[in-house]
Amino acid sequence: MKNVLIIGATGQIGSELTMKIRREYPGGTTVAGYIPGSEPQGKLLTSGPAEEVNVCNPKQIEDVVNKYDIDTIYNLAALLSATAERLPLKAWDIQMNGLLNILEIARTHNCAVFTPSSIGSFGPTTPHVNTPQDTIQRPTSMYGVTKVATELLSDYYFHKYGVDTRSVRFPGLISYMTPPGGGTTDYAVEIYYAAVKGEEFVCPIAPGTYMDMMYMPDALKAAVDLMRAKPRYLQHRNAFNIASMSFTPEIIYEAIKKEIPEFKMRYEVDPVRQAIADSWPDKMDDTCARKEWGWAPSYDLESMTKDMIKHLREKLL
Ligand code: SER
Repeated sequence: MKNVLIIGATGQIGSELTMKIRREYPGGTTVAGYIPGSEPQGKLLTSGPAEEVNVCNPKQIEDVVNKYDIDTIYNLAALLSATAERLPLKAWDIQMNGLLNILEIARTHNCAVFTPSSIGSFGPTTPHVNTPQDTIQRPTSMYGVTKVATELLSDYYFHKYGVDTRSVRFPGLISYMTPPGGGTTDYAVEIYYAAVKGEEFVCPIAPGTYMDMMYMPDALKAAVDLMRAKPRYLQHRNAFNIASMSFTPEIIYEAIKKEIPEFKMRYEVDPVRQAIADSWPDKMDDTCARKEWGWAPSYDLESMTKDMIKHLREKLL
C-alpha cells in the first residue's frame, strides 16, 4: 500500500480513513476521491491531493489510477440501508455497477481493493447470536442484497483473476467527525449529539433491539490492518466478521446517562428501520478475523461513550 485512492473520501468513513492513511503512509500519495457537492474541506483538502471520482464513471477512476500510479483502492461509495430502501435502483447502480468498474480497473492495473461489507449482508434466517463467519446470508433489504453480491463478486475477482480483494463486515459505526446518513444504526450516533446538546432523543429503534456497533478508530484500524495482513494467513477474504460491542437503545441510553444524568429519551419507532434492524445479527462472532490477521478492538461502550462526549462537547458547545 503506497499510492492509495479513497473513493467516497468525504463520507463518514472516508473523511477519517483518508487522514489516517496519509499519516501512516507519509511517503506515498493518498488521493481523496469525491463527488461534486461533497468536496473535501479543511485538513482533508490541504493534506493531500483530491480528485473528482464518481464510482459510476470508469474513465474518471482509471484516469486517477494512472495519474497517481495507484496500487490500492478503498471503495467506500454506498447508499446506507434506509436510503437504499427508498432508492433501490440507485443503490444497485452505485454498489454493484460501481464495484464492477473498480474491479475491472483493479484487474488491468494491478490494484488491491477494499470494499466494505456489513452486518446488513445477513438476514432473518441467519443465526442472530454469535453469527458465524460462514453462515446463511439471505438479506431482505436492497442494501443487504448489494453487500452479499459485493462479497461474492470480490471473491470471484480474487479467484478468477488474482485481484487482491479484502473486506470486513462493518457493524454500525459511531464517530463524532462526519455524520452518517440514511443508515439503520445511525441512531447510535444521533443519540450522542442530542445528549451533548441537552435535547431529548427520539429513538427510531425499539427497546430490546440488539445490533453490533463499533467506534470509528477501531473500524479504521481494521481497514488498514486487513490490507497489511500477509496473504498467506488469509483463509477468508470477502468479508470478515469484526465485532467490538453490541447493545440495545436502552443500554446505550444508560451508558450516556452515567455521564449526563439529566439526559432524556423516548421512542418513536420507524417501521422501515426497525424491520431492517430485526433482520440483522444481535452479535457477530469475529474469531476468524482475530486468528487470520490479528483483529482486536480497543473500545467498549463505556470508553467510546466517554470519548464521544468529550469530542462532541469540544465540537458543539
Ligand atoms: N450502518 C449501516 C446501516 O445502518 C450498516 O452497515 O445501514
